[in-house]
Amino acid sequence: MPNAVICKNITKIYGEGTSKVEALRGVDLEVEKGELLMMMGPSGSGKTTLISVIAGILTQTEGECLVSNLDLNHMSDQNKTHYRGKHIGFVFQSFNLIPMLSCEENVAVPLLLNGADRRSALEKARTLLKDVGIPEKIDVSPADISGGQQQRVAIARAMIHDPDLIVCDEPTSYLDHDTGIKVMELLRSIIGQNGKTLIVVTHDVRITKFADRIVRLEDGRIV
Ligand SMILES: Nc1ncnc2c1ncn2[C@@H]1O[C@H](COP(=O)(O)OP(=O)(O)OP(=O)(O)O)[C@@H](O)[C@H]1O
Ligand SMILES: [Mg+2]
Repeated sequence: MPNAVICKNITKIYGEGTSKVEALRGVDLEVEKGELLMMMGPSGSGKTTLISVIAGILTQTEGECLVSNLDLNHMSDQNKTHYRGKHIGFVFQSFNLIPMLSCEENVAVPLLLNGADRRSALEKARTLLKDVGIPEKIDVSPADISGGQQQRVAIARAMIHDPDLIVCDEPTSYLDHDTGIKVMELLRSIIGQNGKTLIVVTHDVRITKFADRIVRLEDGRIV
């Protein structure tokens, strides 16, 4: 299988002087197309930083990161945004939902940004909200639902545009056991189709059985 992601000697330094933090200290990582990779490690070990670099949300200090053999850092901001919007889905640790929009509108955002018509985008959003188990929340603002429900809206939003790579930061942290398993089964079924790739950061040992491979990060390094 070809690689979906190649990271070579990635370092990331936040801040400077006395507030300097070395969040990543030379990370090498390859993720195969079609693979479900889980990433574990203590709080502060650099997991969110690493997946943010991989998804083109954050720029590394040094090193090279290729996604489908493309170096997102060598793209213009506009091309990078366009590429991410089409090919990458991201579930943020803090969800990043838009409170002014309803849940179905939040889920539909990636499709709308890719130029889909509103009616079909909302229809697909409703199907996905059903798939993640919250069909009754389509019209509600994410501000008025529970953390676990918001998390499922964020997961539906990350899948709606059928991206090649989905990156999830602690996707089951607010979910009970059964819901967490169902969400992982849904994500797993997606990557079973045409070589989609999934990277999941997790502390949740209940879901590690879904992984093809688990890597562990400690103090900015893969150990
Ligand atoms: N924006 C930022 N500015 C400065 N330092 C940061 C920033 N984001 C993260 N860090 C620091 O970088 C290191 C790695 O943080 P990161 O969020 O990647 O860890 P994590 O493994 O995702 O932790 P958690 O499990 O708590 O989510 C930590 O020391 C953190 O304090
Ligand atoms: Mg994190």
